[in-house]
Amino acid sequence: MRREDTVVAPMPTFVAPVHPSQWEHQDTRVEPFPAPGAGGTARAVQPATRMVPVVPLPRPAPTPTPALPPPSVPTQEAVVTHGKIVVVFGCRGGAGATTLAVNIGATLARSGKSTCLVDLDLQLGDVFVALDLEPSTSVAKLAREANTIDGAALRRRLQRHDSGLHALTQVGRLDDIDPQLAERMPALLATLCEHFEYVVVDGIRDFGDHALAALDMADRIALVVTQDVPAIRRATRVVDLFRKLGYSERKIQLVVNRHVQRSVVSEVEIERALGLPIFARVRNDYRRMSAALDDGALLHDIARGCGVTQDVECLAGVLTSEPRAPQKCQQAPKKGLFSRLLSRGDK
Ligand SMILES: Nc1ncnc2c1ncn2[C@@H]1O[C@H](COP(=O)(O)OP(=O)(O)O)[C@@H](O)[C@H]1O
Ligand SMILES: [Mg+2]
Repeated sequence: MRREDTVVAPMPTFVAPVHPSQWEHQDTRVEPFPAPGAGGTARAVQPATRMVPVVPLPRPAPTPTPALPPPSVPTQEAVVTHGKIVVVFGCRGGAGATTLAVNIGATLARSGKSTCLVDLDLQLGDVFVALDLEPSTSVAKLAREANTIDGAALRRRLQRHDSGLHALTQVGRLDDIDPQLAERMPALLATLCEHFEYVVVDGIRDFGDHALAALDMADRIALVVTQDVPAIRRATRVVDLFRKLGYSERKIQLVVNRHVQRSVVSEVEIERALGLPIFARVRNDYRRMSAALDDGALLHDIARGCGVTQDVECLAGVLTSEPRAPQKCQQAPKKGLFSRLLSRGDK
């Protein structure tokens, strides 16, 4: 059973200033999304992992419907939204995955979407440093409670940033990790999806067991690359593995971070090497980005309205917007320096 065969609720609409590209709808069935405040549910019928088949339930014999009491107005915690999982996957250390994940998460939270940011770099994750927060629970602890915890208790356990973003990490509690964590990861993510509209995952840079659980369940993977040969070489291997894992191309969104107009690695060559169109660009602005990171601040707070902030806000919008018509990669007219470097040795 592939993740793409499940029933999903449509994403809320954002204005998308760049092409989200290459989305196909043919294997996605859509359930109606409830009107805001309607208190209804639009639940994705979703397996815990892609290994678990969905077995159709036997249809019960019709019984007379007893009179129901009037529905109670749900509290914010009681509303089950079935959220979307967005994994931000850095193709190499320093690509900017954490910076983007933190600012995407805060952008969504600030726009009124309930959002939880999960740091799955269990040992060295720096999401909490970037947000200037102190963890109050851990990924492993919450994973142990995932099947029993209710929405109110879940929110109490998580740390909440001023932007409204909730966050979860393991860092600082390494002795709390237990051997069952990887197998509990799908249930943890599913529980977070029941209580948040978006679950943004940072800290994945390999294909270990708990990382794989998140990647399998992800609705979108923002694949963060930079315009240099080692990053694109690594990215080709990552994309190759994504394809072998059966992830559809509409799930993988190629994001060029630290983007500059003139680069030895052209955009055409990146698209050709990865066989994916570039989905979004975030400009290079080291001064503002590192100032934010150093202060544990968000771009919105220290560089509101600046180009790089707008790029990240656009990225948050398009990552969570309705898919658009498929877009073809640009054609590389001729082999350049980068193509020759890339075709040398392993890809
Ligand atoms: N768009 C950007 N322009 C300039 N510098 C950036 C940009 N994005 C991230 N950086 C910088 O890159 C460095 C690594 O970022 P980080 O988010 O920690 O990467 P990763 O999580 O992929 O290892 C940080 O110093 C950060 O400020
Ligand atoms: Mg990081």
